[in-house]
Amino acid sequence: MLKSLFYGLFYDGFMFFPEKIFLGRRRRKLISGLKGRILEVGVGTGVNFRFYNDQVVVTGIEPSETMLSRATEKRKKLKLTNRIDLWHTGCGLPEMQQLVEENTLDAVICTLVLCTIPEPEKAVEHFKKWLKPGGQLVIMEHIRPHTHFFGKILDAANPYWSKFADGCQLNRTTDVMLSKAGFQLQYETHFNMVLPFYEAVYVKPGKTK
Ligand SMILES: C[S@@+](CC[C@H](N)C(=O)[O-])C[C@H]1O[C@@H](n2cnc3c(N)ncnc32)[C@H](O)[C@@H]1O
Repeated sequence: MLKSLFYGLFYDGFMFFPEKIFLGRRRRKLISGLKGRILEVGVGTGVNFRFYNDQVVVTGIEPSETMLSRATEKRKKLKLTNRIDLWHTGCGLPEMQQLVEENTLDAVICTLVLCTIPEPEKAVEHFKKWLKPGGQLVIMEHIRPHTHFFGKILDAANPYWSKFADGCQLNRTTDVMLSKAGFQLQYETHFNMVLPFYEAVYVKPGKTK
């Protein structure tokens, strides 16, 4: 509880330079062209909000109260209260089933969140169900390194890191998991920022939106 509070309060400061140098422009590229009904998973402090254009309606979910209150402030500051609906919930919690209906979403956004949510495979199954055919799953995640040595180092560091970073896992093979999740790959790239990162857009198969 205290750890979550600490993490929530200091998250933006901790991420300031990575966001400025690497992540911000990648977020902009992934998010600014999206349209329609969007689910943003684990909005955190609302870092993605400034990249939404005026053609989206967003449902944002966030289980941490501290993060959610920061995101609520950011939404107000950016005058996005009409277009971003925020809910205090998370993947795997029962109320999620009532929040989103099948085949209704144009996009699901996961940035730096599949490293933390429990049972990410199950969550991705739900995203697929909720997306319209042709809807997009937008991803920017850190992943387990592909090299044996660095992978083993992160495996060893993971128990300590996840305690500090509110459950974030350093060694999830999210890229591999997504490649087997039954989506069509539209775009992918790998990049490094201390950790290896994976950025991708997947599409739910079926007719286009
Ligand atoms: C590293 S932060 C990333 C926040 C934001 N997506 C970003 O790009 O800055 C991870 C977030 O995932 C949230 N989270 C943890 N468990 C979750 C769950 N089951 N469903 C949705 N979000 C979750 C955490 O509370 C935290 O805000």
